[in-house]
Amino acid sequence: MEKRIKGFSKRTREEKAEWIANQYFQNPKEALALLDQYRHRDDKLQKLHDEFIENTLTNFYIPFGVAPNFKINGNDYVLPMAIEESSVVAAAAKAASFWYDRGGFKSTVVATKKIGHVHFVYYGDYNKLWEFFNSVKDRFFADTEEITHNMRKRGGGILDLMLINKDFEEPNYYQIKATFETVDSMGANFINTCLEQFAQTLKEVVSESDLFTDEEKQIDIIMCILSNYTPDCLVRSEVSCPIEELETDGVTAEEFVRKFERAVHVARIEPYRATTHNKGIMNGIDAVVIATGNDFRAIEAACHTYAARSGQYRSLTDCSIENGIFKFWIEVPLSLGTVGGLTNLHPMVKFAHEMLNHPNAKELMGIVAASGLAQNFGALRALVTTGIQKGHMKMHLLNILNNLGATHEEKEEMKVFFNDRVPQHSAVVKRFCEMRGVSSVEELKK
Ligand code: MEV
Repeated sequence: MEKRIKGFSKRTREEKAEWIANQYFQNPKEALALLDQYRHRDDKLQKLHDEFIENTLTNFYIPFGVAPNFKINGNDYVLPMAIEESSVVAAAAKAASFWYDRGGFKSTVVATKKIGHVHFVYYGDYNKLWEFFNSVKDRFFADTEEITHNMRKRGGGILDLMLINKDFEEPNYYQIKATFETVDSMGANFINTCLEQFAQTLKEVVSESDLFTDEEKQIDIIMCILSNYTPDCLVRSEVSCPIEELETDGVTAEEFVRKFERAVHVARIEPYRATTHNKGIMNGIDAVVIATGNDFRAIEAACHTYAARSGQYRSLTDCSIENGIFKFWIEVPLSLGTVGGLTNLHPMVKFAHEMLNHPNAKELMGIVAASGLAQNFGALRALVTTGIQKGHMKMHLLNILNNLGATHEEKEEMKVFFNDRVPQHSAVVKRFCEMRGVSSVEELKK
C-alpha cells in the first residue's frame, strides 16, 4: 500500500506523530506513549532539541559516560564519551590509567589548515586562465573582506587560493582550491560562504576582461564546497615507556611487545584487519567528538581517506621499539571546533566542554587523538593477551540481562555466576531460565 504524504513538514509535531503511529504501528497508542516518554519534561529544553533538525518527534538517547585518568600533555582530564557500545568507556579508562603512570599522552598539532573548492567548467586555454587568475587574485580577497572580517580578527581567514587543472581527468574541469585557517571553529559555514563568493567573483572578473572570448566567458560553476578531507589539519598523539614497564595480564613484557608490534604491522599491511583496527580507534574518537558537539561523520570520512592515502587502506596507528623504548602513536586529521555549531547550544555539549576545562580547537584535537590511541591500545592489549571476548562479553552480559527483563538482584546473581565463565548469549539465557525455574524464553514472557 502506498503511503506517500505531501506537506508532512508543515504539520505540527503531534500531527506527524499521529500519522506515523496510525500508518505504521499495530498499537498506535503505545507508539505515541513511547515518543512522549522520551521527550523532556522541561519544555524549553525540548524546544531546543526540536529545532536542531526537521520533523523532530522525540529524542534518541545514547549514554553519556566518562573516562577518567587521562593525562595529556601533563594535564589531567576526564573524557566525555557519548557512545552506545558496551566496554568502550571501560577500555578507554583502563588504557588511560595504564599510561597515567607512564607519563601519559603527548599530543602535538602538526597543522590546522582546511580546504575548500570551487569546481567549475571552462571552455578555453588553461594557461591564459592561470595567468589571469594570478593577476586578479587580490580581487578574491577583497570581495570576501566582509565575510572574513571576524575570522581575521580571531587570527584566521583565507590563507591561499590556487587554480588547479583537472582537464586531463575530466574534460574542461578546473578548480579554485582555497586554503583556510578557521581557528577554534570547525568553519564549514565560513568556508562555504567564502567559496560561493569566489565563484561569483570568478565569473565577474572573467566576463569583465577583454582577454576572453565569449565562449571562454561562459564559466559554468559546478559546485562550491569545503572538503572534509583535511590532511593538513593533523594531530599526533603518542605514548612511550621502557619495554620492561609493559608486563601485562600474565604476559611478560618482551612477549607482549613482540605480539603488539606484530598486531600493528598486520593492520598496516592487511586492509581487512586495518578496517577493524581503525574501527576500534574510531570508537574512542567518535565518542568524544559526539560528546563535544562535533561532526563525527566528517571526522570519520577524513580519517578513513587519510588511512588510504598511500593507495592502500592502512592502520592509523603505528609503533616502534628502539633502545629498549616502546613508542606507540596515532596521526589523524581532526577538524574540530570549540566555538559555534552545537557547542554553544546543546546543554550536554556545554557540560563536556566545561569538564574538559574549555579547550581550544588545538587542545581538543590532542584530547580526541589521545582517546583514539587509548582505545586502540586497549583493544590490541586485549587481543594479544586474554582475547577480546573476556572484557566484551562481561559488559554484554548486562545487555542480555536487560533484554530478558532481569531485576537488580537477578543481575547481581548472574554476574557472580559468570565471573569466571564466558557469558555466551545461549548460556546466559539457559542460566536465567534455570534461575526463574522456567524451561524457555517463551515461558519467561508469559
Ligand atoms: C570493537 O568495537 C572494536 C575492536 O574490534 C577493535 C579491534 O579489533 O582492534 C575490538
